[in-house]
Amino acid sequence: MSIYDKMLNDGESLVRDEIPLDYDYVPEKVPFRETEQEEIAHALRPLINGRSGKNLFIHGLPGVGKTFVIKHLFREIGFETNNIQPLYINCWKKDTSHRIALEICKQIGYKWTHNKGTDELLKSILEILNKRSTVICLDEVDKTKDLDILYNLCEDLNNKTIILVTNYADWISDLDDRIKSRLIPGVLEFKPYNADSTKGILEERKNFAFVPGVWEENAFDLVVEKTWQLKDIRTGLFLLKESSDVAEINVSRKITIDHTRKAIAKFSDNFKIKDSGEFGEDEQQIIEIIKANSGKTIKELYKIYTEKEGDKSYRTFYRKIDELLENHMVELGEKEGKSRIIIYSKKLSEF
Ligand SMILES: Nc1ncnc2c1ncn2[C@@H]1O[C@H](COP(=O)(O)OP(=O)(O)OP(=O)(O)O)[C@@H](O)[C@H]1O
Ligand SMILES: [Mg+2]
Repeated sequence: MSIYDKMLNDGESLVRDEIPLDYDYVPEKVPFRETEQEEIAHALRPLINGRSGKNLFIHGLPGVGKTFVIKHLFREIGFETNNIQPLYINCWKKDTSHRIALEICKQIGYKWTHNKGTDELLKSILEILNKRSTVICLDEVDKTKDLDILYNLCEDLNNKTIILVTNYADWISDLDDRIKSRLIPGVLEFKPYNADSTKGILEERKNFAFVPGVWEENAFDLVVEKTWQLKDIRTGLFLLKESSDVAEINVSRKITIDHTRKAIAKFSDNFKIKDSGEFGEDEQQIIEIIKANSGKTIKELYKIYTEKEGDKSYRTFYRKIDELLENHMVELGEKEGKSRIIIYSKKLSEF
C-alpha cells in the first residue's frame, strides 16, 4: 500500500454530515430513555381530552438527555394532535417573567406585544391558550430571576402540564410555598447513562455523521470510555468531532487512537475555562475546602468555611459554589435528602 492511500485527497472529508454532531440535533428516535419518555407522556395524556395533566419536576446531571427527550416529545405532539399547544422555554435565554411572556407570545404567534407589560401580555396569552390544552416546559428553570409567571400559569392556565427542568435536585424544595402548593409536581430523575447506553448513543451518531469505516475501533472505544466517565453525552459528541478534525489536519484517512488522545487533551483545555489559579482568594479557599472535604453538603461545607474564618454569607457562599460548578471545578454528587452534595472535580485532572 502506498503512503498516499492513507492520506486524504484534497476536498475529501471523513465527515459526511456534521448535523448529527450538533448539541441541538434531535434524533428521530429516543433510545435508552423509553421509561422517562413514557412517564412524561403519561403526565400529558389527560390534555388530549381537554383535562389538566400532571405537572413534573425533572432533574439530572448535564448532558443526560433531559432537553432532548422533551423536545422530541413536543415535536411528536405537534405531529399528532392539534388539541395541545407545546411551549418550550429555555430560562437561561429567557430569564425574567417578562422575557418568558414575550417568548410565549412569539411561539403562539401573538404579535401585539409592543409596549405591553407582563400582566397585559399574560392576559392575552391566557385568552389564547385557554381555548385548548397547554404543555409548557421551563428548561434550566433555576436560571430565572423571578418566578411570578410560574405562579400566574399555575393559577390561571386551564388544562395544563407544567414541566420544570434543572440540574439541581433540591431546587424545588427552596421554591416559594405558594407556587409549590399549586404545582404539586411528580418528580422524575434522569440518571446518567450506563456504559452500554453511552456506546449505543454515540455509535448511532457516529454512523450518521462519518464516512463508514473511518473510525478505528480502539479510537471510538476511547471516546465512549471518556464520555461514560464524565457522564455527559455532549463530551462524546465533542470528542467525535474533534478527533476527526485532528485526523483531517493530519490528512489521515482513518481516525486513530492518537487523534482521539489529542482531542481529549484539547477537550480539557477548552473546558478548563478557568484553572483554580484564575479564581479570587475566596473561591480558592472554597476550592481547597471542597478538595479536602469532597462529598459533603453545601451546608456542611459552609460550616467548615466559617470555622476557617471565612466571612461571606451563606448566600454568597452558595453563589460561589454555583460559579465553581459552572466552571467544572467542582461537581454535584448524589443528593442526600434535600441537600446538594459537592464533590471535587476529578474530571480535568484525569486527562
Ligand atoms: N438517549 C439519547 N439518544 C440520543 N442522543 C442523546 C440521548 N441522550 C442525550 N443525547 C444527546 O446528548 C446531548 C445532550 O443532551 P441534552 O441536551 O438533552 O442534555 P440535558 O440533560 O438537557 O443537559 P443540561 O442539563 O446540561 O441541559 C444532546 O445532543 C442529545 O441529542
Ligand atoms: Mg438541557
